[in-house]
Amino acid sequence: MRLDGTDVTAEPRPGQCLRTYLREQGATAVKKGCDAGDCGACTVLLDGAPVQSCLVPAHRAADAEVVTAAGLGRFGPGGDPAADDEHLHPVQRAFVEAAGFQCGFCTAGMVCTVAGTPELAQERTGHAPAAPSPAAPSPAALAEHLKGNLCRCTGYRSIRDALVGRVNTEVAEPGQAFGRAVVAPAATRVVSGREPYTLDEPEPPGLLHVAVLGSPHPHARITRIDATAARRAPGVHLVLTHHDVPATPYSTARHENRLDDPDDTRILDPVLRFTGQRVAVAVAETPRQAREALALVDVEYEVLPAVFDPEDARRPGAPLLHPDRTPHEHRVADAGRNVVAQIHEEYAEPGHDGVEAALAASAATVTGTWTTERVNHVALETHGARAWPEPGPDGDVLHVRTSTQVPFLVRDELARLLDLPTDRVRVVAGRVGGGFGGKQELLVEDVVALAALRTGHPVQWELTREQQFTVVPCRHPFRVTVRAGAAADGTLTALAIDVLADTGAYGNHAPGVLFHGVHESMAVYRAPAKRVDAESVYTNNVSSGAFRGYGLGQVQFAIEGAIDELAARLGVDPFEMRRRNVVRPGDAFVVGQLVDGDLEYGSYGLDQCLDLVEEALSRPGDTPPTGAGWVEGRGVALAMIATIPPRGHRTHARVTLEADGTFVVDVGTAEFGNGTTTVHAQVAATELGVPVSRVRVRPSDTATAGYDTGAFGSTGSVVAALAVHRAAAHLSTTLSSAGYSPSGNDSTGRTSSTQLAGTFGEATHDGSPRSVAFNVHGFRVAVHRETGEVRILRSVHAADAGVVINPQQLRGQIEGGVAQALGSALTERMVVRDGVVVTRTLRHYRAPQVADVPETEVLFADTYDRLGPRGAKSMSEAPYNPVAPALANAVADATGVRPRDLPMQRDRLWELLRTDPG
Ligand code: FES
Ligand code: FES
Repeated sequence: MRLDGTDVTAEPRPGQCLRTYLREQGATAVKKGCDAGDCGACTVLLDGAPVQSCLVPAHRAADAEVVTAAGLGRFGPGGDPAADDEHLHPVQRAFVEAAGFQCGFCTAGMVCTVAGTPELAQERTGHAPAAPSPAAPSPAALAEHLKGNLCRCTGYRSIRDALVGRVNTEVAEPGQAFGRAVVAPAATRVVSGREPYTLDEPEPPGLLHVAVLGSPHPHARITRIDATAARRAPGVHLVLTHHDVPATPYSTARHENRLDDPDDTRILDPVLRFTGQRVAVAVAETPRQAREALALVDVEYEVLPAVFDPEDARRPGAPLLHPDRTPHEHRVADAGRNVVAQIHEEYAEPGHDGVEAALAASAATVTGTWTTERVNHVALETHGARAWPEPGPDGDVLHVRTSTQVPFLVRDELARLLDLPTDRVRVVAGRVGGGFGGKQELLVEDVVALAALRTGHPVQWELTREQQFTVVPCRHPFRVTVRAGAAADGTLTALAIDVLADTGAYGNHAPGVLFHGVHESMAVYRAPAKRVDAESVYTNNVSSGAFRGYGLGQVQFAIEGAIDELAARLGVDPFEMRRRNVVRPGDAFVVGQLVDGDLEYGSYGLDQCLDLVEEALSRPGDTPPTGAGWVEGRGVALAMIATIPPRGHRTHARVTLEADGTFVVDVGTAEFGNGTTTVHAQVAATELGVPVSRVRVRPSDTATAGYDTGAFGSTGSVVAALAVHRAAAHLSTTLSSAGYSPSGNDSTGRTSSTQLAGTFGEATHDGSPRSVAFNVHGFRVAVHRETGEVRILRSVHAADAGVVINPQQLRGQIEGGVAQALGSALTERMVVRDGVVVTRTLRHYRAPQVADVPETEVLFADTYDRLGPRGAKSMSEAPYNPVAPALANAVADATGVRPRDLPMQRDRLWELLRTDPG
């Protein structure tokens, strides 16, 4: 074949798909996001037509012309073969200018689909960028031609903008980058598939591959395991069972304080607590050899009774998952009831008698139970890592390249598990293809690290999409019962919640999700009496873990539903109900007796957010469907979030002047689509008074950057950015006293960058005190009473993010959060039967495609946060939280029937409307 203009003659292996073949030829612009033709990340042009290369047998491409994103500018339709390798296709330029990506893992496939589909690209494929934008592709064309390309980050609006050539980005003057929609530094590499994700680096010689035998039982004990035959299988270098690995208990969850999570996990455990849990590991020269070796591992199991319902799990006599764990040693709250974490708190203002008395005296009360389902992150890049030992001056250093949000925390825990000094472990994250909290876990790194140490070879493990569903932790499903009371004017008198979270087989993130879930959701409302009863419970299901919003979305769904219902009972407008009861500066953040010590009102824009959404919802202009059966309504919900997790979040940043005048920012934060690389470049460039192009950010390498807790809790734009801000300010002062003007604008320029090369400024930030951010979402909807169909007529989101660092990027974060929340509100649900995950493909799981996501109007409150960098607050995960309750409130307003269970799939809603006509 001709691959991006070069002849390729290697024979494919029998049965090999084109994707794998192309990647083996070095064409890493071809990404792998699934195993089944569902995501489009692998799209290439085959004789000019876009194909999902994982579905095409490699031999079918014999003698064909194959073009990947890397060759699109030269060899794609309307390309310029005489141009150089860096030349971008007009479609790629359009994606850069529209900021049409976040993590970018979908982008190389997306641009190939667009460039190769006349209905999408039209004349843009061969035109000069100055040409007038043609009409937007019709919704039908989008739905038909782009449905095979999933994007989990953007919410698709910026991609639709790219299709019509809309320019959303701008060039900032030197020193003026803060607050501007500057282009992501990696943009041209991302759109051309050249930005290396975790497994895109060239394969080192001698690379071995991992396959893992998963438990066939949800609860069992291994009584005998014999790997003798497997170890003799062709190509096999290593087989590990629980007899061969350290027995040190740990948690896959990673936090600044490793004691935040229970130590209830082992690398390989003789007790199996969910279907699919690791039983044995094979390491061989090819993935197939590793898989075949596993078939030779002889295992005998004692099957144990299992429990799948968290309510059953805490009843007396239930099977116990971790009976020997103690609160003190392992941080498991009550192992005898399968309770890993619990909160039982009551609070009454002086002069009040508590929740029960307040409810009894209320003019109206609401009691109801709301439920949410397991949701999958669907980060397009699956978990994967590669490890290899490399000689260093003081002995071998274990290198680990991994798809993680927390390189330093992975380093520290690997060192602990493998009994190595931390300076003998180096963890690097390349660009990460989406995380959403899922990559705040140590899931594959322990195995590749151990295997690399034992074999002396580089070792790689890449999870399949099916494994992403069956063994990777998902969002905790919650059951929340709310009791709320109010006086006749709508003033809250009492608020009480009873929460039950299913943490699955292990307690990774269970305490944190539970605490966070009940904290800001309860603290955002003032009520003189409050009560929280919350427990997170072990079951024999796949584990739950960290996911955007960290428990808040689940509890907010229930509380915002109850507040809405209370308002309806009292005849109070839902916006007024909220204005009357939300916290205001000066109020404590009260949840039972728990009061957050270092949480402050760095700024406050909740009032503005409510006004903005109310005004936008009341504007005319919707086009509701016509015909019998449609009813209309509107709904609103709000959420508050701490801008930084509690108990410390540290970042060290260093900014160095290079001889050529470039400034290099070394910061440990990983870039996974959260946009921190762009933000950090903007912050440094502004402080130094230079253009963003003179700043190069070198993120997420534990050997070159100072310590960083990691990219979670949306901290990259506040904690790490503050450290960068201070480091750049420090360097600016140093340079100016040395007579060097970074901008070259002042007359003192007596010294050159060559003379001062290596001069640096550095700073740390410990993440305290913390501020609060706010989000309000509103919908206008039409609901068909006979079919349960929900049509979103208007979607509005207002965010209080302080001073906006990059409006286009922030808008993208909000739209992506809204789209992800709409998925969990309407369609997404991991179906698990008797501990077996049934929804194992993207096709069955139903993450939103381009045609599923309506446009959301994004509005910003005008506030200045005194705790954030130049007034900014974080805003990556928060937009998720108010979306599902706002939608449920709008459906309730339209139909008179309140959905209390997510997702509100059409059949579920139809059933609800059929049995309760409202
Ligand atoms: Fe080919 Fe997902 S990797 S469609
Ligand atoms: Fe599309 Fe991340 S930018 S999946």
